[in-house]
Amino acid sequence: MNFSLRARLFIACALVALAALAAVTALVAREQREWLLQTHQQSLERTARSLARDLPRAPGGWPETAHTWGRMVGLRVTLMAADGRVLGDSDVPAEGLSRVENHRERPEMRAALAWKTGHAVRRSRTVGIEFLYVAVPAASGEVAVLRVAEPLTAIASLRASLLRLTLVAAAVALLLSLAIAYWIAGRHSRRIRDLEAAAAAVGRGDGARARELPADELGRLGRAFNRMAAELRSRVDALERERDMRERIVAHLGDGVALVDREGRVMHANQALAALLGEPTPPAPGTPFLDFARAPELGDLMRRVQAGEESPEAELRPWTTAGPRLLQATAGPLGPSSEGAVLLVLHDLTAMEAANRVRQDFVANVSHELRTPLTSLRGYAETLLGGGLEDADHREGFVRTIHDQAVRLEALIADLLSLAELERPGAGLRLAALDLREVVERQAAALRPRATAAGLALHVEGGEPVPVEADRARIEQVIANLLDNAVKYTERGEISVMLGGDSDRAWCEVVDTGPGIPHEDQPRIFERFYRVDKARSREKGGTGLGLSIVKHIVQLHGGTVTVRSSPGQGSTFRFEIPRAPHRGF
Ligand SMILES: Nc1ncnc2c1ncn2[C@@H]1O[C@H](COP(=O)(O)OP(=O)(O)O)[C@@H](O)[C@H]1O
Ligand SMILES: [Mg+2]
Repeated sequence: MNFSLRARLFIACALVALAALAAVTALVAREQREWLLQTHQQSLERTARSLARDLPRAPGGWPETAHTWGRMVGLRVTLMAADGRVLGDSDVPAEGLSRVENHRERPEMRAALAWKTGHAVRRSRTVGIEFLYVAVPAASGEVAVLRVAEPLTAIASLRASLLRLTLVAAAVALLLSLAIAYWIAGRHSRRIRDLEAAAAAVGRGDGARARELPADELGRLGRAFNRMAAELRSRVDALERERDMRERIVAHLGDGVALVDREGRVMHANQALAALLGEPTPPAPGTPFLDFARAPELGDLMRRVQAGEESPEAELRPWTTAGPRLLQATAGPLGPSSEGAVLLVLHDLTAMEAANRVRQDFVANVSHELRTPLTSLRGYAETLLGGGLEDADHREGFVRTIHDQAVRLEALIADLLSLAELERPGAGLRLAALDLREVVERQAAALRPRATAAGLALHVEGGEPVPVEADRARIEQVIANLLDNAVKYTERGEISVMLGGDSDRAWCEVVDTGPGIPHEDQPRIFERFYRVDKARSREKGGTGLGLSIVKHIVQLHGGTVTVRSSPGQGSTFRFEIPRAPHRGF
């Protein structure tokens, strides 16, 4: 049977109390009987002796004496002769004495015949009930022994009432001890249940405390328990903090990270992984990784790690909505605690590859751009050397071409140097307060002769000064480039410049009535060397670098440059800069 702790404690206490009380009661009962017999025996003995002393003065015959004395002392009185004949007995009528058997062999009688005091407890064969006998020697005439006897029923009833008292006391003691046992069992089992509840709460992660009082074993257990719970809590907290920190680190990593178990299911994946593979959200834990990634190279990498390779690498080119990507994938075992699990890291090389391509294209473009004027320089120089000098009609033309090509080369190199300077990391601006309108007007004035020569009107629309904080030389470069383009590409009409601004930005628009720029080319004209019509640009002495220089400078000022144009409708170039860019921008 499965008793509760409380029941077991109670039953144990109850059994102990019961056993102790039963033993005590039994002992007391036995002692009582002994004591009663002894006291009765003593009083019988005293009575017997005093009667024996009175024998010589006995009133009449022995049978009457026995009867009289018997009534007097309220006991059975027997008188026996030395040969064992009963001379008188208070419980036997005189005429019945002849039938009473010889009493000499009764143990108490034998002792008295030997001049000692005899005792016995026995059922009387003469009267048929239990008696306590005490016999003393008498030596008075015929009578050798005087015996008194008390029926044990008297003692028994005394004992019964004593026993009742004892039992009542025992019952009261038992009840009391049961009540105490019940209380102690209840208290202890309640405290243990409290501890149990506290342990369960700690198991659930609640900050529970056990009672520490009083200072017994359970109290000490409670204290130890509380120390343990606090220690556990602080360790769990530390682990949780560490886990959160790691998760945040992984979540914010630019590299894609995935943990895949030995069955190829995702254990953890970060947002970057999803982004790199062109998915909106990372896979839920438990998703088969290859169903999500759909890149056989990654499956191959995982197999290689599981086959024992230390950190295999592969390149993959997934297609995403942002276009093709180049990813470098590295895989490795997760460690001995997760047998067969693989850690996959995806690193995005797309931008690096693009940058490399831009650099290669740039070098190729520069070489190409340089080769054209150099080839013609060499051609004309060779022509001159090979007799052209003597050709008075054409030699001036040759030399002019050489000069023009040299100018173009110079312009190209100047632009390249400008770009290199602008792209230098940490390229700074020399900011100064200036009036943008004044700068524009000066540049327009410088270019006006060329515009007029080409039959174009060039005017700046009047208005308030436009104070800005900017790098004067560079802003001049921006305006010069935009005006130069407008004059260069416009055949008929006019070029107008407008300026304005609000509290924190200033803007400038250069509007021409030129050929316009096809829509598909508009996003690209700010790239280096990009020209809508290469031949025409070259013929006009363009390098293809002007607008990219413009864009760089405007961006260095924290501004933007845009174009609005339609073929045949002219073009509007607009740049906007903050009134006061943060220094060092
Ligand atoms: N105002 C304009 N009207 C028409 N096309 C223009 C204008 N400005 C620039 N473009 C186009 O953008 C290209 C790039 O300009 P830019 O970088 O200044 O190079 P470049 O002037 O040396 O050719 C030009 O080749 C030309 O095709
Ligand atoms: Mg230009």
